[in-house]
Amino acid sequence: MRNLNQDNITQAVIASFAGTTDPRLKEIMTKLVQHLHAFAREVRLTEEEWFKGIEFLTGCGRITDDKRQEFILLSDVLGLSMLTVAMNNDRPAGCTEATVFGPFHVAGAPRYELGADIANGAKGTPCLVRGTVRGIDGEPVPGAELDVWQSDEDGLYDVQHEGLAEAQARGVLTADGEGRFHFRSIVAVPYAIPHDGPVGAMLDATGRHPWRPAHLHFMVTAPGYETLITHVFRNESDYLDSDAVFGVRQSLVCDWVRQPDGSYLLDYDFVLKPSSASAA
Ligand code: BEZ
Ligand code: FE
Repeated sequence: MRNLNQDNITQAVIASFAGTTDPRLKEIMTKLVQHLHAFAREVRLTEEEWFKGIEFLTGCGRITDDKRQEFILLSDVLGLSMLTVAMNNDRPAGCTEATVFGPFHVAGAPRYELGADIANGAKGTPCLVRGTVRGIDGEPVPGAELDVWQSDEDGLYDVQHEGLAEAQARGVLTADGEGRFHFRSIVAVPYAIPHDGPVGAMLDATGRHPWRPAHLHFMVTAPGYETLITHVFRNESDYLDSDAVFGVRQSLVCDWVRQPDGSYLLDYDFVLKPSSASAA
């Protein structure tokens, strides 16, 4: 393997994976090289441009830590997160649709009793959230677990606030014996994804904004059902048609109803796909 040129280097790199024992890894590496090389050829990538690309990726690595995940942001703003969600979450009609996970979920969030205020001091307009978790045949899912997280009225998640002693606007609740849940929190508002790093610079350079429409995150789990990772979006929010991470699905957009006392009510039912069911 000497004197490789632009016409035969792709095949040489692909051949270098011949000894990969895991067939899926072999397929992924082969296709990755094929498509990367095709991309470089198609745009006739210069050395200077590729060096910029490497600097960009290095910047993503430098800014990433246990609170900031620039690579998830990159995947999100390129639509790759939503593409993988869409490809891997085909559910029968009637099931709640999935959307992007995002970088702000925290494993092991505090557990709350039904009816509790998960805002736990987060700034915002009070909101009661309630609904039922059901299966596709309408059966209630007793004891379904709801992991909920959202930003505060300043558009920041608790993990983005320096030195907060306790979790705010996030928590885990268990639905009752009829699959019903209710809890208090705050009204979601549109917010800008972190844009003070390389991904923000890329959005800026391409004339894109970093905003997401108002939403509340849910991860709903129950034995015998597929885990659902989704959001409920607020109908009157800005950016529903220009979400920076391409995550809006019409079925997830809902009215958050203002009450006479100025608080809000969000009623939303989740429909889970049984683990054994195939997509319709
Ligand atoms: C979020 O909704 O929390 C989120 C999703 C993608 C990128 C940044 C934030
Ligand atoms: Fe979010």
